[in-house]
Amino acid sequence: MSVALQGRSLLTLLDYTEAEIRHLLELAKKAKGESKRGEIHQRFAGKTLALLFEKRSTRTRCAFETAFGEEGGHPVFLSTLDIQLGAKESLEDTARVLGRMFSAIQYRGFKQSTAEVLARFSGVPVYNGLTDSFHPTQALADLMTLEENFGPSAKKTLCFVGDGRNNVARSLMVICSKMGVNFTVISPGVLNPDPALAAVCAPLAAASGARLRVTEDLAAVEGADAVYTDVWASMGEEDKKEERRRLLAPYQVNQALMDKTGRRDSIFLHCLPAVKGEEVSADVIDGERSRAWDEAENRKHTIKALMLATLGCET
Ligand code: CP
Ligand code: NVA
Repeated sequence: MSVALQGRSLLTLLDYTEAEIRHLLELAKKAKGESKRGEIHQRFAGKTLALLFEKRSTRTRCAFETAFGEEGGHPVFLSTLDIQLGAKESLEDTARVLGRMFSAIQYRGFKQSTAEVLARFSGVPVYNGLTDSFHPTQALADLMTLEENFGPSAKKTLCFVGDGRNNVARSLMVICSKMGVNFTVISPGVLNPDPALAAVCAPLAAASGARLRVTEDLAAVEGADAVYTDVWASMGEEDKKEERRRLLAPYQVNQALMDKTGRRDSIFLHCLPAVKGEEVSADVIDGERSRAWDEAENRKHTIKALMLATLGCET
């Protein structure tokens, strides 16, 4: 199947086909192998990458910056203290200027519309490094980690426990629907995933053979290959911390919940950063079933694959 990713942005993953996502995952596996063997490549030589950050980041920034820089590219980190993002200069104008100077742009911030405008007006690939709505590069690393543990072809079930409306849960729903992975969200009803997104994903899931489920019932973790959680209050929701604590305390991923999978080989995933003692107990995230650290490493390999493919640097 032919895959044409050169010049493409990654904004939501919704416009990527199963074959395109598969291609990125295979490329990420290859990049990981190269890295483990200590191979040195210079596939981004002569390229430049703008890294725009309105919100904090450890993994995403470091993954983009090291993946690009170690292959001869020049990444430039720009926080809101450094660059106009709609203040003083219009976003459209900033995008036009960045497009004249950079080969690609990574944007992490609040509004999904900012990523969309940057893509429309810059004319270069724009990578969504997390918005309030989606975290697509995270979902790529999550699927890679799931496949490292259970293989690419086996039928898999991922269970997200927590704030089902958040960016990470939303992107997991998209990637699982596209890739035939069963996806269950367990959350209190008021934090259920957006029905509009579920409606978009339902036909994708039907086509790929994935089962989508939303429930309040923790018993639904039974049989899951992986149990996934994320912080109870995402960046920008600091004022909701208390309310979330009340709503989500019964949904902590702890040993008792992992045991409810009924599987000795089920794994624990978390996008990180984690608040140990809230959404996950320390013994689970630091325990033998946790793959959170592999998952963090895989951010770099999947992000490198994305940039190799979209910048036409695969070979
Ligand atoms: N998972 C993730 O996006 O981590 P950072 O916020 O550290 O980038
Ligand atoms: N849902 C979290 C993810 C952090 C990687 C947030 O948006 O803060």
